[in-house]
Amino acid sequence: MALERTLSIVKPDGVTRNLIGEVIRRLEKSGLRVVGSRMLRLTTAQAEGFYAVHRERPFFRDLVTYMTSGPVVVQVLEGENAVAKNREVMGATDPKKAAPGTIRADLAESIEANTVHGSDSVENAKVEIAYFFKDSELCARS
Ligand code: RTP
Ligand code: MG
Repeated sequence: MALERTLSIVKPDGVTRNLIGEVIRRLEKSGLRVVGSRMLRLTTAQAEGFYAVHRERPFFRDLVTYMTSGPVVVQVLEGENAVAKNREVMGATDPKKAAPGTIRADLAESIEANTVHGSDSVENAKVEIAYFFKDSELCARS
């Protein structure tokens, strides 16, 4: 087992519906620890940069509009196998396909407004964490 860090975002639909605490409660209950956290409203440039890997996808413009529609909470989670663990607690992208009991199955509104983001690999987690946080803003918990 490897101690990892991953980037988590409570997306605008989660913040708007007062689900910040519920999302973090589920992540903490799984054993993940919050080592950094901040609320912000993404600019268009920040959202485009963050999801640049999807820029050729048909849903890209809608995704950027959605991600800038309200504040988000960005947080760094730390724990054993944190990347996979976070994705497991989140559930599949489409809430209709997400496993019962996952955040997206229980809370997401749609395939786009799906309440949470999670890094999909250790390499991407490093890039995504650095997108929002300096090392000095993170507090090791393990
Ligand atoms: P995320 O990056 O946000 O954690 O989500 P993910 O890995 O589960 O899914 P990904 O394929 O990376 O897609 C990024 C986000 O784009 C929106 N999306 N919309 N309308 C659509 O068909 C569609 N597909 C994806 C979602 O907000 C998704 O989480
Ligand atoms: Mg993704």
